[in-house]
Amino acid sequence: MNPDRRAAYLRALDVTVYRPRAVAGSVPATSAAVEPEAAARAQYAVGAPRSAVSATAPPASAASLDALCRQVAECRRCKLCEARTQTVFAAGSPRAELMVIGEGPGADEDAKGLPFVGRAGRLLDQMLLAIGRSRAGDEPPRSVYIANVVKCRPPGNRDPQPDEVEACRPYLDRQIELVAPKLIVALGRVAAQRLLGVNLPLSKLRGGQYEYGPRNTPVLLTYHPAYLLRSPSEKAKAWDDLKRIHRFLVAASK
Ligand code: URA
Repeated sequence: MNPDRRAAYLRALDVTVYRPRAVAGSVPATSAAVEPEAAARAQYAVGAPRSAVSATAPPASAASLDALCRQVAECRRCKLCEARTQTVFAAGSPRAELMVIGEGPGADEDAKGLPFVGRAGRLLDQMLLAIGRSRAGDEPPRSVYIANVVKCRPPGNRDPQPDEVEACRPYLDRQIELVAPKLIVALGRVAAQRLLGVNLPLSKLRGGQYEYGPRNTPVLLTYHPAYLLRSPSEKAKAWDDLKRIHRFLVAASK
């Protein structure tokens, strides 16, 4: 979306835009007003516009999502390949305006080869349905594209380790590039930290609006559905996030 148009939408929605701090080689941040209490968060958005090219892993240059999926299926860039049953690439529509990014496959996903098919996945489907979206939807506005930070199951459902996240970075970056969503929603701390390039807890990051990649794709954050299953009292806050996501998408598609 044209940056001026997006800024106008965001102002109309009363959404604070956090501009990334200038990093070497990037265009300096412009004069966006940042709320004082948000300033601390904003300064951490340094990772947001980073290049799609990883410092450690070669870029993924597949020309299509199908080609990228085949490349991922053969991947042996990190130790997660040793214990996986299969890789878990994505679900949903490649034409979606909304891209949802989780952490990594669990046991159910490893068995089925699809993201978010266990209990947390069922809750995610309900959350998406609440804002009129579904992984079965083929075209916007109903559609959604779902992917993960890492494409192979971390053993015992542990968090993916930094080297594993880095090894998978080019695949997720290329997925984002090829889908070209209008909005990315990061589910939980691992996805938020991966996209924002920071080590802060989700509680410090949630509520902000960020940008990712060379297209400055807007990023919003919410709780991971697995966390909401463990902490149902947080669902009210997740609902606030969902309403914000919905408002953003409605405005962005006008
Ligand atoms: N949790 C995730 O983050 N991703 C999945 O695909 C399943 C559970």
